[in-house]
Amino acid sequence: MSILRRTPPDQKRPVDIVVGIQWGDEGKGRVVDLLARDYAAIARFGGGDNAGHSIEVGQTKLALHIVPSGVLVEGTKLLIGAGTVVSLQGLVKELDTLEALGVDITRIAISARAHIVFPYHATLDRLAEKQRGSAAIGTTGRGIGPAYVDRVARLGITFGDLAKPEALATKVRQELLARAPLFAGADDVPREEDVIGETLTLAKRILPRVVDDVAWLDDALAGGGRLLAEGAQGTMLDVTFGSYPFVTSSHTVAGGACTGLGIGPSAIGGVLGVAKAYCTRVGGGPFPSELLDERGERLRSQGREFGVTTGRPRRCGWYDAVAARYAARLNGLDALFVTKLDVLSGFERIGLVTGYRRADGRACGIEALGEAGLRVEVEEHPGWVDDLRGIRRIADLPQAARVFLDRLAELTGVPVTAVSVGPERSALAT
Ligand code: GDP
Ligand code: IMO
Ligand code: MG
Repeated sequence: MSILRRTPPDQKRPVDIVVGIQWGDEGKGRVVDLLARDYAAIARFGGGDNAGHSIEVGQTKLALHIVPSGVLVEGTKLLIGAGTVVSLQGLVKELDTLEALGVDITRIAISARAHIVFPYHATLDRLAEKQRGSAAIGTTGRGIGPAYVDRVARLGITFGDLAKPEALATKVRQELLARAPLFAGADDVPREEDVIGETLTLAKRILPRVVDDVAWLDDALAGGGRLLAEGAQGTMLDVTFGSYPFVTSSHTVAGGACTGLGIGPSAIGGVLGVAKAYCTRVGGGPFPSELLDERGERLRSQGREFGVTTGRPRRCGWYDAVAARYAARLNGLDALFVTKLDVLSGFERIGLVTGYRRADGRACGIEALGEAGLRVEVEEHPGWVDDLRGIRRIADLPQAARVFLDRLAELTGVPVTAVSVGPERSALAT
């Protein structure tokens, strides 16, 4: 069995998907980097630069926000897909960083159908958070929600629009007019001519990268190549199935790869879920397995759990098998990649959340997520003291770690095919 699927690759199903199954930051970037050499192309299908995907290869450390995580594997083509929303400023910055590292950026393409996140979307994001007060989502402040709102409201501006300056100017004007009431009370009200001027300047750098993604994908896969679809965020942040309203504004589940890349479900080969051996969440919203004591702090310091995009400390807790089982069902997972097992070394006892109970003591499932007074049932496992970072075979892990992983897989209902034991590409046990 490979890391990704139970059966050999099927030519009629050329697309595999990697998704996070928790609340984001599971280690998707490092997993995609590891798998990338087997694919002709890697594509991001949703989200924007709210994502932060870290990769470590030798001395090179990268934090990518929008360019797919296959960028350090020479020869792979990279697509920022139609389902994404992308800041021009953020994209140019990332292209500059990659060029400085010697990456050939002509491998990178962005869909003409992807939507532009303007700086005023970030302003609207911050204003909306302020209005939510104590019920704030804790967004990344990157304007992701407002940009998706504009897309659905049919006011959005796409990368394809960058090629038509006059039509673009008209659209910016119309959008700002429609949104003017929302800026009441804002310090930085966008000025039409500034937005248009800056956009047209940035367009010069970006336009050579803009493609018709449907034709681009057909070309990239011609001759039997395969595509790896890279998820952003995590299943529990999905706009429909996540811990609504404490979610992001896109479809983060595997199905999002179909709508975000224009691919039929029959083209999907395998779906790999990525999960930390424990759990983290950034921002507000329910997190039943959260540890508010010194164990949570220890997970944060040993796991260096600080946001890649915002630097915020991540909330930490035990692996939540109730949420993981739900995610396995929503994504149709074939296999599970468990990251950061090394972080658990030294804990005397390690928890797995096996069930939830309502405030009145009745057993319940994921449907009760967000209810006041929800409690968790925790199964405690003996820990281990060994440093796992040099281990390359699951069979060579300490007995206690293997028992923990077997139980994690059993509770999730998905086989664990790989385990990472350090941030560097080679720190992998299979
Ligand atoms: P993503 O958003 O899912 O790509 O994950 P992030 O990059 O936001 O967060 C994962 C963090 O854990 C990054 O800092 C990685 O370098 C780090 N990391 C990934 N895998 C491992 C691992 O197996 N062990 C340790 N110690 N760190 C890891
Ligand atoms: P990666 O791809 C962790 C969270 C935010 C907030 C909520 C909504 O690195 O796993 P948004 O800015 O999207 O409107 O914020 O979603 N969030 C993430 N948390 N990892 C991410 O991405 C996230 N992207 C968004 O913290 O709670
Ligand atoms: Mg991240």
